[in-house]
Amino acid sequence: MDTNDFNYLVECATKAPSGHNTQAWKFEKIQDGIIIHPDFTRALPIVDSDNHALYISLGCALENLVIAASKIGYKSIVDYPNNPNSSITIKLHLSGEINPSDEELFDFIKSRQVNRSKYTDKMVNNTELERLRNCFNYDGISLVLLNGKENFEKVIPLIIEANNMQFQNKQFVSELTDWFRYSKAEAEKTKDGLWTATMGLPSMWRFIGNFVMKNIVSAKSEAKRINEILQHTAGIAIFFSEKNDVTSWINVGRAFQRFGLTATKLSLCHAHLNMPCEEISVRQKLANLLELGDKHPLLLIRYGYAEKMPYSFRRNVEDVTVN
Ligand SMILES: Cc1cc2nc3c(=O)[nH]c(=O)nc-3n(C[C@H](O)[C@H](O)[C@H](O)COP(=O)(O)O)c2cc1C
Repeated sequence: MDTNDFNYLVECATKAPSGHNTQAWKFEKIQDGIIIHPDFTRALPIVDSDNHALYISLGCALENLVIAASKIGYKSIVDYPNNPNSSITIKLHLSGEINPSDEELFDFIKSRQVNRSKYTDKMVNNTELERLRNCFNYDGISLVLLNGKENFEKVIPLIIEANNMQFQNKQFVSELTDWFRYSKAEAEKTKDGLWTATMGLPSMWRFIGNFVMKNIVSAKSEAKRINEILQHTAGIAIFFSEKNDVTSWINVGRAFQRFGLTATKLSLCHAHLNMPCEEISVRQKLANLLELGDKHPLLLIRYGYAEKMPYSFRRNVEDVTVN
């Protein structure tokens, strides 16, 4: 693989979503492939103390990379790490063959986004639900689609319960606001984080934004906003895994990335309401409610139809590569 191919694959990989848009990844070119390293300097110790979301994000980047590699004729073999601090090695060799399902998703790598706006009331039809349900096939990873309010209503109290726990936790709010980018200038400068425009919020001075987040936004106001959003949501998707280990987290990321790309292809929007998966006590209640036995719900995603929102920034390829 030459440097041009490497740079191109890294660029495609970095279009992946990541918690708080931290982009906690580094890419290394090796003789016969690429290593994706976790970048723990960008970890989120409060909301993601076990780094499961960090590894889900690496899984999303990995899936983009594998899809893009297939598009330019490389076959990928993924070597999964077996301990919580390790990297993912992808062996790439030119085969000239293109995987048809990857070919189908490749075109949506750049246009996919997490859309936090209020969705329309349009429902998703069964053909499209079937496409979402069947968009991935990873051992031990499953997806449940709660389509229609009558089916997802039961999870709303758990979303609110976890939201309240998080917004009553000063450290959570502080970690969140550290990653807020309150203007285009701030977002363009760091090329990471949560730009207010992507959340439908206006630009503001950092000291005002921090004041609003710490003194005006509250568990109650967030709960009200979430309840309102859920009045206009077609359905909720929950990704869960049989095991709660690094390989499963990566594969949840891979599955979720295929979901995001497939949804984009179907002109469907999606956004995270992960709180019940992030708070361990609520995660257990969610597993019980959905009768998942000892399986682990790791992502909770709303979906529906809406207009596009502004896109988040990404760091440049040279900022995320190691030599
Ligand atoms: C593992 C994971 C967890 C996430 N959790 C949340 C979340 O709790 N709330 C939210 O609004 N977005 C969440 N996101 C979405 C990211 O904030 C989003 O991907 C990032 O800001 C980049 O935006 P983009 O995906 O539109 O490019 C999450 C993404 C990932 C991969």
